[in-house]
Amino acid sequence: MNNILVTGGCGFIGSNFVRYLLEESDFSGRVVNVDLLTYAGNMENLADIEKAFPDRYAFVRADICDREHMAELFDEYDIDTVCHFAAESHVDRSIVRPDAFIRTNITGTFNLLELCKDSEDRLALFHHISTDEVYGSLGEKGLFTEDTPYRPNSPYSASKAASDHLVRAYHKTYGLPVTISNCSNNYGPYQFPEKLIPLMILNALEEKALPVYGDGRNIRDWLYVRDHCIAIWTIMKQGQRGETYNVGGDCEMENIAVVEMICDILDELKKSPDGRPRRALITFVKDRPGHDRRYGIDFTKLKQALGWMPEESFESGLRKTIQWYLNNRDWVDRVRSGEYRAWIKTQYGRSWSDPSTPG
Ligand code: NAD
Ligand code: TYD
Repeated sequence: MNNILVTGGCGFIGSNFVRYLLEESDFSGRVVNVDLLTYAGNMENLADIEKAFPDRYAFVRADICDREHMAELFDEYDIDTVCHFAAESHVDRSIVRPDAFIRTNITGTFNLLELCKDSEDRLALFHHISTDEVYGSLGEKGLFTEDTPYRPNSPYSASKAASDHLVRAYHKTYGLPVTISNCSNNYGPYQFPEKLIPLMILNALEEKALPVYGDGRNIRDWLYVRDHCIAIWTIMKQGQRGETYNVGGDCEMENIAVVEMICDILDELKKSPDGRPRRALITFVKDRPGHDRRYGIDFTKLKQALGWMPEESFESGLRKTIQWYLNNRDWVDRVRSGEYRAWIKTQYGRSWSDPSTPG
């Protein structure tokens, strides 16, 4: 693995991964970050990395669905490894407007696999980042293993399931060297404030209602994003080609408990102006259609075969995350106002339209 193409490297997990790869890991080659810069992609997330690693990091704005452009990039940068994050990633958006999910998550992945097949001679690995949501919803007991049948319930998870199947098929049919990871809910720095944890942190700081869907008893397993990045790199280096690895945090929580914890930590770190506990802002709202009740991950395979374990506890990871959002209000303001596009323009002398943004 010398020249890694990271797709979606300007998003939440992708930018944390590029940062981890260049600042912390033992990787010594070059990273080419290809991102379309939809509403979720922000070059600002890696501005310092671009300065610090001019010879080892390159950014190209491109659409993974544009096969011709992607083919040029494969050749230009002599790509031998792909780490594929690019996707439409928010369940609520997929319910309202699934089109971009089908396009990017399925057709985009298919395009990349075709290009990898064409450059098979030099391809070391195609690593596909996926989600535990492909397995559907659990009852009160049991955990998802790598053998759990796929039962996706939202357009988002169905599109990710389709992409997982394609990746597996390209290994079985064409012998492409692939690995797949299915991970639980991530949280940490640079997460777009539409997802539960950053949304609640920012609403709570601004004394706005904290909208909890349904009865708030839905359960998710949570993993700090840096731990996910370490798992991905571990699988890329040591994972058996053709295999799938579940990644989880051993941390199942009801949504209401997550929101209450955010309120309590914020009350401790930054009292609300009127001194009222932030739990008073919690508001139960209409449930999400098709809302999966419980996710829980069995990651014994990754633990036993490759020795990976999460380092961060939920309490310590959540504190770090809340502190990051408190320290980076300028980033938040630019992201929420759409001003980060103007920031890109001042830095790069051009602006980009956003063809795939789903509203
Ligand atoms: P994100 O929405 O923050 O980032 C997605 C990135 O992909 C953005 O930078 C966006 O600009 C880019 N992108 C979108 N369409 C593109 C296209 N057509 N061509 C090129 N780039 C495009 O998402 P995230 O939360 O960082 O998730 C990254 C990956 O991890 C996704 O594949 C997601 O399914 C998976 N995943 C996420 C979680 C989670 O909790 N966030 C958990 C498990 C797996
Ligand atoms: P989310 O962060 O959207 O991730 P996912 O749907 O991929 O798990 O949501 C996490 C959980 O929080 C999910 O059960 C839905 C719930 N949720 C709320 O209750 N309120 C909200 O405003 C959001 C965004 C999510």
